[in-house]
Amino acid sequence: MGKKLLIDNENYSFKKKISIDGDKSISIRALLLGSQAYGKTFIENILLSEDILNSINCLKKLGIKISLIKKKCFIYGRGLNGFKYRRNIVLNAGNSGTFARLILGLLTKSPFYIKLIGDKSLSKRDFSRIILPLQKIGINFKANSNKTLPLQVIGSNFVNPIHYFEKRGSAQCKSAVMLAALNSPGQTVIKAKKSRDHTENIFKYLGIPITVKKNKHYDEIRVTGQKDFRSFKYKIPSDPSSCAFFVVLTLLSKNCKLIIQNVNVNKSRIGYINILNKMGAKIKIRNTRTRFGERQGDVHVESQPTLKKINCPSSLNSNLIDEFLIIFLAAAKANGVSSFYNLSELNKKESPRLKLGSKLLNQLGIKTQLTKDSIKIFGNPYINLKKNINIKDYYKDHRVFMTSVIAAFTFGGKWKINDIDSYKSSFPSFLNIIKKLGLKFKII
Ligand code: S3P
Repeated sequence: MGKKLLIDNENYSFKKKISIDGDKSISIRALLLGSQAYGKTFIENILLSEDILNSINCLKKLGIKISLIKKKCFIYGRGLNGFKYRRNIVLNAGNSGTFARLILGLLTKSPFYIKLIGDKSLSKRDFSRIILPLQKIGINFKANSNKTLPLQVIGSNFVNPIHYFEKRGSAQCKSAVMLAALNSPGQTVIKAKKSRDHTENIFKYLGIPITVKKNKHYDEIRVTGQKDFRSFKYKIPSDPSSCAFFVVLTLLSKNCKLIIQNVNVNKSRIGYINILNKMGAKIKIRNTRTRFGERQGDVHVESQPTLKKINCPSSLNSNLIDEFLIIFLAAAKANGVSSFYNLSELNKKESPRLKLGSKLLNQLGIKTQLTKDSIKIFGNPYINLKKNINIKDYYKDHRVFMTSVIAAFTFGGKWKINDIDSYKSSFPSFLNIIKKLGLKFKII
């Protein structure tokens, strides 16, 4: 039996400045690119979550020397495709969809089959979205008919640069092809629906030949392959997705104020701040600057007793895909009925998040109307629960866990939340920060 978290909401109020953990997407990209650079790469403030530790272990199995001293990480790269490994290795990506999908793009030249496995949740997720474009490049796969993990991958000496049209708005698909392009001769051309652009930014920062033409809905990305690049220094900003939990906690609490420092405020990641401000929040981003090709800033937020409903334009979806659960919670306390559309991708994350988000709100007594890809949330600003709430079967999804914790502090009631270790895959300091803010919980 896993540990449980007990929360019996009492009054609290905080006015604090905090720092949170490093960005998960950028930590994984910095590791992958460090493994392909020539020489010793130094990454500061790397996220020390389970997803990252699994990524490091997999890269070590591929023969890359990596040392970790607290949040400082040194990677000793041997240039493009500088992996060195034995036959029959197994890479375990754990819960990390991002690492599992992106690493496949770097195995273009692998001479032996490599087996890729993951935990129960990752083993349910779709890999056809990665297999199909990578097969066109020349990478070969042995996979089951559902194209889920475990799978086996082997590279090829005949790698082609491709023209790829990424229609989902998936940064993972786009990035896997961009990484494969590093080892492909000539120019790979990607037309990609808008999604987080950290791979483009780090390629530019490293001087990898890339051009990006930004159009309204799609970007055209051209990468010229087989150009070695040198090791680098990088300091990872804080994760805006982790920041979102504390932003909504502050908004939905009474008399609270918070400053979250050095957050990655890349436009493709802060859609949730735009949505919350449209709902009447007054979140401000101050002290903005660009470091290592990414926008950073301090996020200022204070309690907002009355949030308005939102009719969320789906053009914003890819700018807040990981924050929908916590936005649903804000909508549950807003005045009026909020609507969110075109969200079928949300059911393909670590858990079916659209369905589970709706189920969680129903448990709180909030009415929802759910379809395959949309949700209407009938908000209730006056809600103050008195009942017991037990959160059990949520596929150990870290974001469902953290959303439940924020609900427990802001909606009232006596909560018991199972499988508390889940949050460690993305935000290991989560409960320590809750404690620092003076909020009380018990672990049994
Ligand atoms: C990520 C991309 C998104 C996101 C995931 C991280 C990335 O997934 O949900 O948490 O780092 O590229 P998709 O690309 O599947 O939308």
